[in-house]
This record gives sequence, C-alpha cells and structure tokens, in this order.
Amino acid sequence: ALTDGDKAAVVNLWSKISGQTEAIGNEALQRLFTGFPQTKTYFKHYDLSPNSAQVRAHGARVLGAVGEATKYLDNLSEGLSKLSDLHAYNLRVDPENFKLLSHCFLVVLAVHFPAEFTPQVQAAWDKYLVAISTVLTSKYR
Ligand code: HEM
Repeated sequence: ALTDGDKAAVVNLWSKISGQTEAIGNEALQRLFTGFPQTKTYFKHYDLSPNSAQVRAHGARVLGAVGEATKYLDNLSEGLSKLSDLHAYNLRVDPENFKLLSHCFLVVLAVHFPAEFTPQVQAAWDKYLVAISTVLTSKYR
C-alpha cells in the first residue's frame, strides 16, 4: 500500500507532469510500441506511425486518467471504476501489458525529471502504477 510519503511523492511529481501530459503520454506509448511490439495489436485501428495525432491524443487521455487518479489515492477502485469496466469487459487487455506500460512510463519519468526521480520517488510511482493496474485488471473474472 502507498504510505503517506508515497502519496506525497506521487502528488508532487504529478504537479510537474500535468503541464505536459500529451508529450509524456505519447513518449510512453512510443516506448511501449517500440520495445514491446505485441502491444500494438490492441491499437490496430490507430495510425501507429511515430508521434501520430491519434497516439498523441491517446497518450494525453491515459495520462489524464493517471492524473485524475491522484485525487483518489485512498480509493482508487472507486475512482477508476469506469476505466476498470472498460479495460476488463470491452478491451480485454491482457494484464501483462499493464506491467509493460508502467515500465515505459517510469522510464519516461526518469528521462524527463532526472533531478526529481530519486529512488524513493521511483518506488512511490511504481507502487502507484501497480495500484492503478491492479484496479484496471481486477474485473476479468
Ligand atoms: C482506452 C487509460 C492501460 C489499451 C483508454 C482510455 C483511458 C485509458 C483513459 C480512454 C477511455 C475512454 O475513451 O473513455 C489507461 C490507463 C492504463 C491503461 C490509466 C494504465 C496505467 C492500457 C494498456 C493497454 C490499453 C496496458 C494495452 C496495451 C487501451 C485501448 C483503449 C484504451 C486499446 C481504447 C483506445 C481507442 O479505441 O481509442 N485507456 N489505460 N490500456 N486503452 Fe487503456
């Protein structure tokens, strides 16, 4: 579970991410699709050329949800309930992919915020992304 210190680290770094959700979300997706090309199968209906408008827009949406969830750190399952339904019932994304996306997201944070991304901040964000992923994959069965 996230400690009070973890929660503070999540909220603090989010305040820096929030002004660049499209750029950071896009970069995380570029790394996901390049490093783990099997993830592209979920996005067959997208223009997956690098930095396409569709991928950029999706990156902003994903990051928007990550940011919105910072308001529900004590109640993520409620805050993410609709997204959880979507990923489990409609999209049926294999849970393994959430680990891959979280990994890419941590890499992007390390690249963009080298000074802020201490081991403690990394650990806090890792826990946060695991918590989000757990909720989004909780309704599969
Ligand atoms: C859609 C968030 C992980 C595949 C979405 C949407 C959001 C979102 C906000 C748009 C929902 C809407 O239109 O109402 C997240 C978050 C994730 C995550 C916060 C984890 C931190 C994943 C993973 C995959 C995935 C790992 C697959 C590799 C999709 C697909 C769509 C979608 C295929 C629909 C895209 C479209 O048709 O435009 N997600 N997602 N998501 N997500 Fe996720």
